[in-house]
This record gives sequence, structure tokens and C-alpha cells, in this order.
Amino acid sequence: MAVSKVWGWSVMGLTAVMGAAVVLGGKSVLESTVVAHTVSESRTVADMAETVGRWASQYGGLHARTVGAGAGFPGSFLTRSVYAGADNDGALLQGSRAGERAAEQEAMARMEAYHWKNPALIQREVADALLAGGSRAQYRMTAHSVLNPNNAPNAFEKDALQQIQAKFAARGEQTGAAPASQGLEYWRVEGGQLLYARAVMGQKSCMTCHDTPDKAPGFLRTNQQFNGGGGFGYEVGKPVGLISVKLPLPQPTEVLKQSLPQQAWGWLLAAAAAGVGLVLLGAMGLFKALRGPSAQG
Ligand code: HEC
Repeated sequence: MAVSKVWGWSVMGLTAVMGAAVVLGGKSVLESTVVAHTVSESRTVADMAETVGRWASQYGGLHARTVGAGAGFPGSFLTRSVYAGADNDGALLQGSRAGERAAEQEAMARMEAYHWKNPALIQREVADALLAGGSRAQYRMTAHSVLNPNNAPNAFEKDALQQIQAKFAARGEQTGAAPASQGLEYWRVEGGQLLYARAVMGQKSCMTCHDTPDKAPGFLRTNQQFNGGGGFGYEVGKPVGLISVKLPLPQPTEVLKQSLPQQAWGWLLAAAAAGVGLVLLGAMGLFKALRGPSAQG
């Protein structure tokens, strides 16, 4: 009888331990899978942001063209160049063909303006468009100190700048063909969101604007939007800023619901049924063992 009792308790206990282990282990595997998946999604968003910058760099930035005085405002820009719209308009606009008021008005309406947007500005406008469009993934560009005060780093980004700086110092010179920012990343989960940051590296081309305030072009210093008091002191080959990505972390249960095929649910159900069966078996053994002596006696 004693053996039976031990057997009953053992089967129930082992089954309970197995059940708990499967549930807890599964939960933690699922949670870390969800984070790993979202980190990889964030890397893709950072890749996209980098690509936007690289693409715009091929052309030294881009110009937004507007025609006429009544054209919509083309957002932020670094410089604006204004041109006469047609060959004869130049003379009209200079007033050298006086007495042609109507023609002058028309020439004004044909005036073309080109607004220069540099790569970092274009990257920021794409980020703004993502935000305005309610996209799940958001990104922004930031640094220790910034040209545009709206780009100032938040608490996570300040930590990330520090961590990445430390990683860079520990790593030393990068050799081989890997991109210089490779491995210079940092992420954490906060408030149900994955916050991810990747280093932006200083290059020679950045120094025109990001070296020292007195070497910076006049249009940067005089532009209200870009004289946030910082954004200088970049060094070539070193991390100078961040692409910071924010993505909501999906609920593990949602991921399960969406990604498990029906077949898998079947197998899980079978495993659960077997577990219940084992517990019942144990309980029956125990019941018999407990009742045994009195039935006999
Ligand atoms: C022609 C001038 C110019 C050059 C060259 C330039 N930038 Fe900038 N950068 C700007 C301006 C203007 C902004 C602000 C854009 C905005 O409104 O968000 C900016 C913003 C940034 C920011 C966001 C933080 C801040 O200061 O507002 C980072 C990071 C950045 N640039 C990195 C770079 C890197 C890296 C390079 C070289 C690959 C580079 N920039 C080249 C003008 C420049």
C-alpha cells in the first residue's frame, strides 16, 4: 500500500513539475524570441534610415522647387536660390523693361525657388512623415549636442550614446570591410516598447557643418531652426550620433495566436490532455492507496 501512495504522489508531483516547467520555459523562450525578432525589425528600420541618408548624399542633398510667390512652403531648408522662370523674365524682374507691369507680375509668378535640403534634414523629414502617418516603427537622429533643438536626446538616447561610446573605446580600430558602425548598437525594453540605437559615424563630409561653430557655414549659424547651441565637435571615424528606433513589443500571447499553425495547437492540446491523464492516474493510485486499508479492514 505504501508503494502505491508514493507512486500516486510521485506521478502527480512530477506531472505538475513538468507542466510548470513547460509553461514557464515556453514563456521565457517566447518572450526572448519576441525581443530578438523586434531587435531585428529595428535594425531594418535603422538600415532604411541610413539608406535614405546615403541616397540623398549622392546628390549632396536635394532641392525642393517651388514656382511663384503663392507656392506652398517647402518645409525646412538650408539655403534658397531664386531664379527667373523664363529667358526674358530676368530683365523684367530687374526692372530694365519698365512699363510692363502686367508682364512683370507674370514673371514674378513664374519665379522659381530651389530650397536645399541636406541628407540629415531629409532623414529627419522622413522620420516626421513616419510619425505623422502613425507608423508602428519610428526613428530619429540625435547626438550629444544638436543643431536642431528638436533632435535633443531623451533619457534612453543619452544612455545609448554613453554605452556606444564605451563599446567603441573597448573595441578599438575597426579592420576589414565591415561597416564602421557594426556592433555599435544598444537596446532595451521599456514600457512595452523596444528602444534601439545604432551609432552614426563621423565622416570627412560631415565636417563642413559639424566641426566647430566658427567653421560652420553662415546659413547654419543664422538659421533659427539649426542654432540649437550644439551639433559640433564631430570626429572622423568616431561615433558622433545615433539613429534611434522605437517599436512596440508585441504581446507574446498575440504572437502565439498569430503564428502557431492549427496543427501545432492540436499537438499542444494532445500534450495537455496527456498531462491531465497522468495527474488523474496519479490521483487514482493515491485514492486506492488511501482507501485500501479501510476497505481491507
Ligand atoms: C551642409 C551641412 C551639413 C552636413 C555636411 C552634415 N550635416 Fe548633419 N545636420 C545638418 C543640419 C542642418 C541638421 C539638422 C537637421 C534637422 O533639422 O533635423 C543636422 C543634423 C544632424 C544630426 C541630428 C542631430 C542634430 O544635430 O540636430 C546628426 C546625427 C547629423 N546631422 C549627423 C551628420 C553626419 C554623420 C554627417 C556626415 C555624414 C552630417 N551630419 C553632415 C547639417 C549638416
